[in-house]
Amino acid sequence: MVGPKRHFLPLAVISLSAFFFYSYYHSSLPSSTSELSPNFTVSNPIYAQNYNPSLANFSFIVKVLAFNRLDSLSRCLRSLANADYLGDRASLHVYIDHFAHQNVSSTTTVDQKLSESRGILEFVDGFDWKFGEKLVHYRTTNVGLQAQWLEAWWPSSDNEFVFIVEDDLEVSPLYYEFIKSLIVNFYYNASNYSPSIYGASLQRPRFVPGKHGNKLLLDDKTRLFLYQLVGTWGQILFPKPWKEFRLWYDNNKAKDIKPFLEGMVTTGWYKKMGERIWTPWFIKFIQSHGYFNIYTNFLHERALSVSHRDAGVNYGKTAGPDSQLLEDRSLDFNILEMHPLSSLKWFDFCFREVIPGRIVTNMDELELLLPSLNKQDSILMVNLFEVSDSVARNLLCHFERLNIRNYILLGPESDFLFDLARRGHPVINVDQFIKWVGLHKLTSQGSQFEAIKSILAKAYVIKKCLENGYNLWVVDGNMLFLSADPFSESKDPNYDFFLATSLELFYVRSSATAKKMWDNNLVSKVVAMAEDLAKKGSLSHSDQSFVHVMAILLEQNGAKFRKLDETTFGIKIGSANVNKSSLGDKKLVYWSAEMGLESIQKWLEELNLWVVDQENSCTAVVCHKS
Ligand SMILES: *[C@@H]1O[C@H](CO)[C@@H](O)[C@H](O)[C@H]1NC(C)=O
Ligand SMILES: *[C@@H]1O[C@H](CO)[C@@H](O)[C@H](O)[C@H]1NC(C)=O
Ligand SMILES: *[C@@H]1O[C@H](CO)[C@@H](O)[C@H](O)[C@H]1NC(C)=O
Ligand SMILES: *[C@@H]1O[C@H](CO)[C@@H](O)[C@H](O)[C@H]1NC(C)=O
Ligand SMILES: *[C@@H]1O[C@H](CO)[C@@H](O)[C@H](O)[C@H]1NC(C)=O
Repeated sequence: MVGPKRHFLPLAVISLSAFFFYSYYHSSLPSSTSELSPNFTVSNPIYAQNYNPSLANFSFIVKVLAFNRLDSLSRCLRSLANADYLGDRASLHVYIDHFAHQNVSSTTTVDQKLSESRGILEFVDGFDWKFGEKLVHYRTTNVGLQAQWLEAWWPSSDNEFVFIVEDDLEVSPLYYEFIKSLIVNFYYNASNYSPSIYGASLQRPRFVPGKHGNKLLLDDKTRLFLYQLVGTWGQILFPKPWKEFRLWYDNNKAKDIKPFLEGMVTTGWYKKMGERIWTPWFIKFIQSHGYFNIYTNFLHERALSVSHRDAGVNYGKTAGPDSQLLEDRSLDFNILEMHPLSSLKWFDFCFREVIPGRIVTNMDELELLLPSLNKQDSILMVNLFEVSDSVARNLLCHFERLNIRNYILLGPESDFLFDLARRGHPVINVDQFIKWVGLHKLTSQGSQFEAIKSILAKAYVIKKCLENGYNLWVVDGNMLFLSADPFSESKDPNYDFFLATSLELFYVRSSATAKKMWDNNLVSKVVAMAEDLAKKGSLSHSDQSFVHVMAILLEQNGAKFRKLDETTFGIKIGSANVNKSSLGDKKLVYWSAEMGLESIQKWLEELNLWVVDQENSCTAVVCHKS
């Protein structure tokens, strides 16, 4: 549908209906968590390591993918030539696919096709491009869209950017100024740089590929946002992620690994169209790497790039422009105004908000983080010490399936922990946290100290949760939930504390009794115990157990607690008589911390509970309406 031009009446109608739409869905807008994001910056110095691009070496290439549509191509090139390149050099590379030989039946059609191709070549040769070099790549066979995209570019440096346009696109005269500002702000300004960003799409966002995902809704004030989906109608690609993608594609293709991703509409396309399209590959790559694309929200169906959806490979018959081209400078806002990255919202394939970069290193940051854990009165803290990376990633995929969002991960400082935070999982960096509370002097080297550090950190986290009125579940990463609330039936209202020794499970209710205990310096008692432990040469298994330490302290304080019998709601894997049918209505599975990764994986695979692929990424995208 072609939207109305700038006449008063239709515009008023549009904004009214937009207002209605906005109000109607307002309750479902993910607004509650977002106020917090500005305090968590994604452009953490940790991510900026090896980051050294130079604007002096910036270069820009427009890659036009063409086939047999002369009218479309000429409209496209004219619009590109009509933009202001600000005196920068901009190269134009045109890739002309060949018609398919085998489908041409008679000589008349052959002659017709040949003359069509010549017409296109003549037009491109005669086309005046005064902003930089013009290069024409005329193919000898029909390679189709996948190869047209994938072979369009191998970045020659970290400062080379491309803008890929299919021939039925038309761009705004303002497009280059916008792209340049965007690249300067989000690539060359280190404080707004994120390694998660793979590019920017100039098309109007229109589609949510995750099945049962949220509606694509944004508030009227949002101009830029981040979204995982690639936008093929005018996509700017950043060099490093694209190179990474090409190598990833190579690897998967060579090993015959298909880009299947359960829960995504695009996987259905792949099953139908196979290698004729390229987006399912890219989407799978983006999902496994946790990357994002910049999008615009110019309202009133406006965009800097529109697709005329002409009849061709994608459309059987012409469907007309998908959006309104943003052309005039007399806009109601300044499109060149760029905001700090920390103020933008991030959305996943379900169009659910993601908050990357939440790395807690002290108690103040923890306090700020707690309300972002999705308005629950209980928080789930998962210990990742001594948990292997793939087991942790598998656990998080189960959280996604079960829609568990009130968790926080506790682990030692590591690239893995930072990567989890980059992908939107809130983490506590225990090494920094311990330093902040002044306990790093409590030295004792070696792996046993890790256990002591995690015990201390847990005691502090409980204190902060109680102060803020949250109940807390402390669980170990060596388990998997089979239900969103595995302990619901165990929660006896007569108790404020529950523990289960072999699960390293500890629950504390935010009650007056619990608060009083923690106010009465329970933490310093934990510290004293930790100091004693640290002096001890070697620690027994129970010495290293948080639950064990808590049981002693609760007893000393005369507090009532309930020991949970884990076998009533959980099942321990690793013994011969466990199989799919014995899972029954169990709420969780767990295993001994000594069990090796290979056995854990083997067991979980047998029970259909291993839901990560060989890259440790989830085999499915599971959307829940929020
Ligand atoms: C960010 O943190 C500061 C304190 O460091 C606080 O005053 C401010 O309200 C926070 N901003 C948001 C949006 O939460
Ligand atoms: C720009 O590229 C040239 C040639 O590759 C290189 O010698 C130079 O160091 C680069 N400049 C900067 C500032 O990185
Ligand atoms: C070529 O013809 C075959 C068989 O008629 C058909 O399956 C195929 O889709 C055609 N290819 C193109 C590119 O039109
Ligand atoms: C880099 O970005 C920050 C945050 O948006 C901004 O304050 C600063 O002015 C920018 N630097 C330059 C050189 O534009
Ligand atoms: C599964 O385990 C139960 C006991 O836990 C056993 O009775 C049953 O035979 C086992 N089933 C299979 C298929 O091994």
